[in-house]
Amino acid sequence: MAFATRHFVRAASSDAATAAAKKLLIKHVTVIGGGLMGAGIAQVAATSGHTVVLVDQSDEILKKSTKGIEESLKRVTKKKFADKPEAGAEFISKTLKNITTSTDAASVVHSTDLVIEAIVENLEVKNKLFKTLDKFAPEHTIFASNTSSLPVTKMANATTRQDRFGGLHFFNPVPMMKLVEVIKTPMTSQKTFESLVDFSKAVGKSPVSCKDTPGFIVNRLLVPYMMEAVRLFERGDASKEDIDVAMKLGAGYPMGPFELLDYVGLDTSKYIIDGWHSLEPNNPLFAPSPLLNKLVEEKKLGKKTGEGFYKYK
Ligand code: NAI
Repeated sequence: MAFATRHFVRAASSDAATAAAKKLLIKHVTVIGGGLMGAGIAQVAATSGHTVVLVDQSDEILKKSTKGIEESLKRVTKKKFADKPEAGAEFISKTLKNITTSTDAASVVHSTDLVIEAIVENLEVKNKLFKTLDKFAPEHTIFASNTSSLPVTKMANATTRQDRFGGLHFFNPVPMMKLVEVIKTPMTSQKTFESLVDFSKAVGKSPVSCKDTPGFIVNRLLVPYMMEAVRLFERGDASKEDIDVAMKLGAGYPMGPFELLDYVGLDTSKYIIDGWHSLEPNNPLFAPSPLLNKLVEEKKLGKKTGEGFYKYK
């Protein structure tokens, strides 16, 4: 028995070594979607020396994305090169040179090692994109989705490269947040998984791994926590102000749950909880909230609209 265990351990580690030896070194990245997340992902990939093509639907959007990246780089540089402005300027220009833009994903994926999708959170739209790109990307190219709440397995199944497909879930704001959740579907190969882990480290992040399960790690814990805070408030057990103070001072959280809901966007939170509720209607953690639904209906979506649980002026 002891021998069998040792043999198994040796075999497993030699399998891992073989996979590691064969893993893909990602140099060229295509990021689809130049919004909040895509622009951030393009920025960190370019900063760490990858060549990046950023794709969106119009040149106008892409101009905005590039400007946003430039502004963000200036902020980073101000701190990083406080007393070396010339080195800072060189850093910005070198990083920006690594980024090109396009409005035609199919025509730019021919030489890419990794496609990271960060478009609208809609499974049909994402599947359509992946299905098309599958025809144009080379055999070795890995596809990854930055989805927060949709099943990565379903996207992988829209392609013929299920083993070269995974999730890469970055956090907002990407240049600041250190975490990446690397999502493994049942079909993701060890080589793909390790290549995605290595890429996450190469862009300066700390990867954790999770199976393809609703919300992965962070949102699976965070979204039900925020919903429970809303329910506590809805029942009249405590005021939203006191709940926020309690979680900041009593649990050491940097923001209270209502401040966080307003920051994330109430529509985003509602969308996530509604999606999970439809998957598991009997799970009380995923129950919708009448108050959250009412605020979204009134277009009080949080900071971005000037009002959510709180007012912002
Ligand atoms: P966003 O709305 O800021 O950006 C999405 C961009 O994708 C837009 O610029 C849009 O024009 C573009 N787009 C839509 N369809 C496209 C297509 N077919 N081809 C090319 N471009 C297309 O959205 P955001 O917040 O950046 O989210 C993107 C993804 O990242 C979503 O899946 C979301 O769930 C996920 N995510 C969002 C986080 C957040 O805090 N906002 C955090 C982590 C993940």
